[in-house]
Amino acid sequence: MPHLLFLLLPLFANAESSFITQEEYSTQLYHSPRGIGCHLCHGERGEGKIIAKYKHKNHLKDFKGSAINKLSYNEFYAALTQRHRGMPRYFLIEDEIKALYYYLEQKNKPKKKKKKHAKR
Ligand code: HEC
Repeated sequence: MPHLLFLLLPLFANAESSFITQEEYSTQLYHSPRGIGCHLCHGERGEGKIIAKYKHKNHLKDFKGSAINKLSYNEFYAALTQRHRGMPRYFLIEDEIKALYYYLEQKNKPKKKKKKHAKR
């Protein structure tokens, strides 16, 4: 699977000199998994997003990516290992699903003072 290597290589390269934090990794994965970024259909914080509007029998309808920021981890996991109409299949491994879930949790946490990372 060349795509997987492509994803993992930067991580190994990074491990040598510096490291990427869980925040950075999960943010990157959410925006570019091996496929279209989740944010394009589910919104930046997983709040859901209208992908397209169309007319059906003269009624205006929306095609939406649902809100995914209020699911339990089990629901989230189940959803990503099943097929969904209108959503590409990703074949993510469990660690990636965890990272994506983590990303959404971080994004939807009540605002606190941002932790400053020490400059390296
Ligand atoms: C091309 C648009 C598109 C992209 C990209 C996309 N999704 Fe979806 N997703 C959908 C649609 C459409 C549904 C089904 C909504 C429904 O059934 O009402 C869905 C459903 C889901 C669900 C289930 C929601 C529920 O309520 O059960 C989850 C979780 C989810 N997506 C997560 C993700 C994640 C994480 C990514 C990135 C790896 C992603 N999606 C990328 C369109 C997309």
